[in-house]
Amino acid sequence: MCGIVGYIGHREAYPVIIKGLTRLEYRGYDSAGVVLFDGDELKLSKTKGKVSDLTAKAESEISLTGNIGIGHTRWATHGVPNDVNSHPHYSNSGNLAIVHNGIIENYEPLKKELIKRGYTFHSDTDTEVLVNLIEDVKKTHNLKLGKAVQIALNQVVGAYAIAVFDKERPREIVAARLGSPLAIGIGKDEFFVASDASPFIEYTSNAIYLEDEEMAVIRLHKPIKIRKIKDDSLVDPYVQELQMNLEQIEKDGYDHFMLKEIYQQPEAIKDTYRGRLHANEGLIRMAGVEDNLQRFLNADRILIVACGTSWHAGLVAEYIFEEFTRVPVEVEYASEFRYRNPVIRENDVVIAISQSGETADTLAAIKLAKDHGAFVFGVCNVVGSSISRETHAGAYTHAGPEIGVASTKAFTTQITVLALIALRLAQAKGTVTNSDFHRHLQELELIPEKVEKALETNDVAETIAGIYKDAPNCLYLGRGFNFPVALEGALKLKEISYIHAEGYPAAEMKHGPIALIDEQMPVVVIAQKQEHYDKIVSNIQEIKSRSGKIIAVVTKGDTQVRELADHVIEIPKTVDALSPLLTTIPLQLLSYHIAVMRGCNVDQPRNLAKSVTVE
Ligand code: F6R
Repeated sequence: MCGIVGYIGHREAYPVIIKGLTRLEYRGYDSAGVVLFDGDELKLSKTKGKVSDLTAKAESEISLTGNIGIGHTRWATHGVPNDVNSHPHYSNSGNLAIVHNGIIENYEPLKKELIKRGYTFHSDTDTEVLVNLIEDVKKTHNLKLGKAVQIALNQVVGAYAIAVFDKERPREIVAARLGSPLAIGIGKDEFFVASDASPFIEYTSNAIYLEDEEMAVIRLHKPIKIRKIKDDSLVDPYVQELQMNLEQIEKDGYDHFMLKEIYQQPEAIKDTYRGRLHANEGLIRMAGVEDNLQRFLNADRILIVACGTSWHAGLVAEYIFEEFTRVPVEVEYASEFRYRNPVIRENDVVIAISQSGETADTLAAIKLAKDHGAFVFGVCNVVGSSISRETHAGAYTHAGPEIGVASTKAFTTQITVLALIALRLAQAKGTVTNSDFHRHLQELELIPEKVEKALETNDVAETIAGIYKDAPNCLYLGRGFNFPVALEGALKLKEISYIHAEGYPAAEMKHGPIALIDEQMPVVVIAQKQEHYDKIVSNIQEIKSRSGKIIAVVTKGDTQVRELADHVIEIPKTVDALSPLLTTIPLQLLSYHIAVMRGCNVDQPRNLAKSVTVE
């Protein structure tokens, strides 16, 4: 995802665009750029880094005057984040400038064709291909910008929101969308184009939201013309009155990005399995897996390497893979793996999990595994990241940008991808019965709905947070599939609230941690009505007899644990293997509320960074 801003009107475009880009930074912040037109020449400045890096650069590099301009804040898809790959991109003639949010899937054949026709490329981006395609169409058929954009977009496969400017038609911006959002703000003698309405909310409350496959020719002092890209039919513009204030749209009304991302999980999980999970047909289709099916099936062992929350997702995957595929799995901290002369065989499949795709230790572990001849498969969120390029194949989680430093939707979407892979391999190996396979597919499809229900525990989580916010320590216990969730719950609490927390397999408690339990100690127990339920009930009794305070995450309708626990949080039932996708939700909410109540910086906890590119 990226953020786009365009302006045409009577104001200086630069401050409007920069302020707008800052508001859109939640959509990605690995590079930023702006192009301005002052009636004479185009002035471009772009850089790797945040919008603040752009302003520092632009202000020393170009004159900032001009009443028309387009800008971009990037979340890299094609091409690493660097100055050259940053947007805007020029066409070869230097007359056209474009900003783009999305992915042009067929950019390679288009690029080859354009190279044959004499075009040259400076960046690794799909966007530079698109702007040259538009230029080629325009020149070849001697067309105006709007028509050229339309014809070019009809040759494109993928997703886009674009704003294009042509130096030869300086009173006009052409915008189009397919799959990525785009809003047009209509002011008095001025227009705005943006990925959402936040960049123009203080200038106008009138906006048109383009629908998929629509394009707009926005011309100063003229009515906006909107057309269907495919069949050229004119569309009546529907002008909406915006009901929102600035604060709401920056974080969608949430107080913090972390909370927004917690609430995005139903959609994020759907985005993860969309096009891959076909529950009715009993099919899982993932190109990266299908193309390498034999490598997976020949594996004597699966090694998972990751760090932090991604490592916890790997631990959940260990339980799921072993349950369904019967292939032994080892989960390694990438930082340990890379330095300890591990045994890696050619028949091993190594799965590297990383939200950012940039974690230095995970990257190094991948290189080591490749040097030993292993097949390495990546599970990443950030498209085009180093890990996604370094691995032999992979599957994206498609969770969208995760801005809160504490990982939430990355975790659940990683588990979703890994569960899909495990089930597909189990089907291919014949290690799962038909009925179990279908049941799990159907349950996976229901998970977003059940996550919605799990999110309804927010008020309970907030009340419990109020009671334990000053606790100096907290213990998290779980068993089986939910042991890694206990680890993840503890990590969430410590990283954002700075309360010391430990996660343990519930039965391990009596081998040490039980010594910590007294009437001051909150113990969060994941006590789902599933395999080993009786055992976890016994563990709860052990805590109770030592006066520990029990916060239990139970299955809806549970009565037995309710009688023992001080607090219960009820979540819907699902199959055991997928239960981490639900049990983790109230733990995220609990940590969030405790951190807020303690006055902590939830989105940017001290000493942490979103992407750990140092070892
Ligand atoms: C915790 C957290 C970190 C990351 C870890 C790995 O909330 O965000 O523990 O999970 O730094 O990062 P990625 O997944 O980007 O490799």
